Amino acid sequence: MKSKILNVSLNRKVENLSYPIIIGDNILNRSGEILKEFIYKKNVIVIYDSFFSVKTSPNNEFEEFVQSMNKLTTTLNFIDIPGGDQTKNINQLNEIIEKVLTYGIDRQNVIIAFGGGVVGDIAGFVASILLRGINYIQVPTTLLSQVDSSVGGKTGINSKIGKNLIGSFHQPQAVLADINILKTLPNREFRAGFAEVVKYGLIKDLEFFNWLNQEYDSIFIYDKIKLQKMITKSCEIKAKIIKNDEKEGGKRALLNLGHTFAHAIESFGNFDGRIIHGEAVSIGICLAFKLSNKLCFCSKDDTKKVINLFQKSKLPTSLHDIKKLSISTSGMIQKFKLDKKNRQNELTFILNKRIGESFIKHNVSANVLTQFLNEEI
Ligand code: GLY
Repeated sequence: MKSKILNVSLNRKVENLSYPIIIGDNILNRSGEILKEFIYKKNVIVIYDSFFSVKTSPNNEFEEFVQSMNKLTTTLNFIDIPGGDQTKNINQLNEIIEKVLTYGIDRQNVIIAFGGGVVGDIAGFVASILLRGINYIQVPTTLLSQVDSSVGGKTGINSKIGKNLIGSFHQPQAVLADINILKTLPNREFRAGFAEVVKYGLIKDLEFFNWLNQEYDSIFIYDKIKLQKMITKSCEIKAKIIKNDEKEGGKRALLNLGHTFAHAIESFGNFDGRIIHGEAVSIGICLAFKLSNKLCFCSKDDTKKVINLFQKSKLPTSLHDIKKLSISTSGMIQKFKLDKKNRQNELTFILNKRIGESFIKHNVSANVLTQFLNEEI
């Protein structure tokens, strides 16, 4: 299968920036060659998910990646971290930074994030603050990170107060996504990643949403042609949205569809694995559609279609599906107030007019939300 190469181009005031996303099958064993212009004769530090640790992993993708990189880099050092959301904290950040510094880095060094969204977010953040910023490359190994978190330069960690509240925008030099590695992914994680894929259809592309519904069976038996198309399309939609809004002053916020609810739900879960990000996004998107319907922006029919696709994907779709988290209306509203999209204490949500058309709704009243959530909990 031929790799697809997609460019993320960012229109900046001073100097535009562009970087490639390479989406291929079984390409990790050629990653050194593919990434040569960024890593040749450089000191490279790989921050990777300990899932791929040679001692524990039954898969050899990571080993192949390492061998391939070894041929072209000057030195290759490694730091492994656990992949769950609990890793995205300030203590872990500090530990990684200390380890990287003991390798004696300079600004020519490159960090590679090899893992899912958590690894990519924290490794990217490390790269953004070390020596005031060094280069990094994303090698996303989960569906969620291949279609979303590895692209667009959002990096960061969670605070005790809320999700992703500490971070920076720092674009990678390249993103290398190998479809073959998705076979290492637990089914639950694949389904969770699918929620972020569906999001792109809902925000901007009815045809893509319909295609996902139609090709659902092939996607879930890992048909690689379909997977490549699905990942490429998702990245294309994301790249288009962030092109003129790198730092989320406006339209980039659309990519947050369902996330105001999702981040609040995840905080209730304490990031302990009872609910994972994509599952929270699935519920969050269903709630965003229900709220859009309640406020007469979107039809019941579209709302049902969305919920059906998530249900078919065995994803949770309502707060009743996660009773174990003891979610309260007042607690949710408190957490909404921390959302980065809010303006001057007014709550902001991404809502939908229909499937394929999201919009930013400022000033959503806390009373309306209270009533809405009381009906949902
Ligand atoms: N994951 C949403 C964004 O990158 O803006």
